[in-house]
This record gives sequence, structure tokens and C-alpha cells, in this order.
Amino acid sequence: MKKIPEHVAIIMDGNGRWAEAKGLPRVSGHKEGLSAVRRVVKAAKVYGVRYLTLYSFSTENWKRPPDEVKFLFMLMESTLTKEMEDLHSRNIRVRFAGKLDKLPEKLQQIIADTEKLTEENSGLNLTFAVNYGGRQEIIDAIKKIIKARYPIKHLDQDNFRQFLYCPQLPDVDLVIRTAGEQRLSNFLVWQSIYAEFYFTRTLWPDFSEKDFKMAMDEFSRRKRRFGGL
Ligand code: IPE
Ligand code: IPE
Ligand code: MG
Repeated sequence: MKKIPEHVAIIMDGNGRWAEAKGLPRVSGHKEGLSAVRRVVKAAKVYGVRYLTLYSFSTENWKRPPDEVKFLFMLMESTLTKEMEDLHSRNIRVRFAGKLDKLPEKLQQIIADTEKLTEENSGLNLTFAVNYGGRQEIIDAIKKIIKARYPIKHLDQDNFRQFLYCPQLPDVDLVIRTAGEQRLSNFLVWQSIYAEFYFTRTLWPDFSEKDFKMAMDEFSRRKRRFGGL
């Protein structure tokens, strides 16, 4: 029996470079990136991965040209509107992690609708990290703790989790990053402390079932010790 990661988190990078290499505008890379999203959602099911978390927009991505930011939100809006019923019919539970109240109102509405529609589903747990920053998530958790007047002497690593954006998400077992960069870029800081990392030069729009399988194979060979022997 091969070891399967329970929680796979992907930093979907290289959309811009994919488009530029083809002489296309950067945004067409984001559009094409959607096909890779559909592929990994299918592959996760095939391999029995329970949690799949996809980094879709970071708190730092606001530094990009306003037109690109607008396009990304528009793309999320239209794709969710078109595909939420399909995700639901496949028993997928969809969640969103991030500072969502800073997103365009229409997108916030569609996010709420998608979460509501799929909240009883028991299949793949699919989470999109949108306007997500790992440090921001920790700051937001601390704010919730103070607001709830949580008794500080009871606070520990286990119950801190309930104040994160998606308390139900377990720690990350495997972080995949495409497009050659080898950094975390503020993704799942709390949840990734003992994650394995898999880097590939493949640009996100080209990420295939075969790439996913290579990551799974590599993970199954890793020896995880968690500080023990
Ligand atoms: C990842 O691709 C998508 C987002 C960050 C939204 P990029 O847009 O970062 O692509 P590169 O890194 O510029 O090629
Ligand atoms: C990380 O990619 C964010 C997402 C994939 C959404 P970036 O392209 O923004 O990361 P950096 O700037 O290269 O670290
Ligand atoms: Mg990038």
C-alpha cells in the first residue's frame, strides 16, 4: 500500500510565464490554468486525497496591475457560477480561506452560495485560498481570540486551530509548487510546518495527471519523522 497524503496544497504558479511564452496576454494563462484545476480535482479523487487546497490569490497579489486583479476575480465569479452545480453533483465540499470581506461583493455572494450548496457533501474537501495570507490568517485568529475573550491559559496548539479560516482543514502533508520557484509565498503558514515539498518546473497551465502522479510517487518515498526517530 502506497502512502497517500491526506491534505495536498498547491501553489499554482506560472500562468503569466505560460502566456508570455506563447506571446499571449498574461490573463490567458490564468484562463488556461482553470483546465489544470479541473485535472487536479479529478486526480485527487482517483488517488484518494481527502483535502485539496489551491492557492488562488494571495494578500500580496494586490500589488499586480488592477486590470489583472479584476480579471482574476471575474474569472472566479464566472467559473463558480457555471460550475458550482457540477461540483455539488460530484459530492465535493467547497470552502474558501482568506480575508473574504475585501473581495468584490458579487464574488463574496457566489462564494457564500457555493459553500452553502456543498456544505453537506462528504467527498473531496476542496478549498480555494483567496485573498489569503498565512500571516494575516494568524493575525485574524488572534483578533478572534481576543474578541471571544478566550481564556488565554487554556490556549494551545490544538485549540488555536478553531480560530483559523477553515478549522476543519488538517495539517498539510504535501505542498506542490509549479513553475520552478521554491518558496512558500505566505501560503498556509500554520498548517505547513511539517509538510513535504514537491517542486516542478512545469508551468501551472501545463500541469497534468502525470505531474500529479509524480508528486504522489515522490511523497510515498519520503520518510516523515516529525522530530522523532
Ligand atoms: C499564478 O501564476 C497565479 C496567481 C498568482 C494568481 P502567476 O500569475 O504568478 O504566473 P507567473 O509567476 O507570473 O508566471
Ligand atoms: C503565489 O504566487 C500566489 C498564488 C499562486 C496565488 P506568486 O506568483 O504571487 O508568488 P511570488 O510573488 O513569486 O512569490
Ligand atoms: Mg507567480
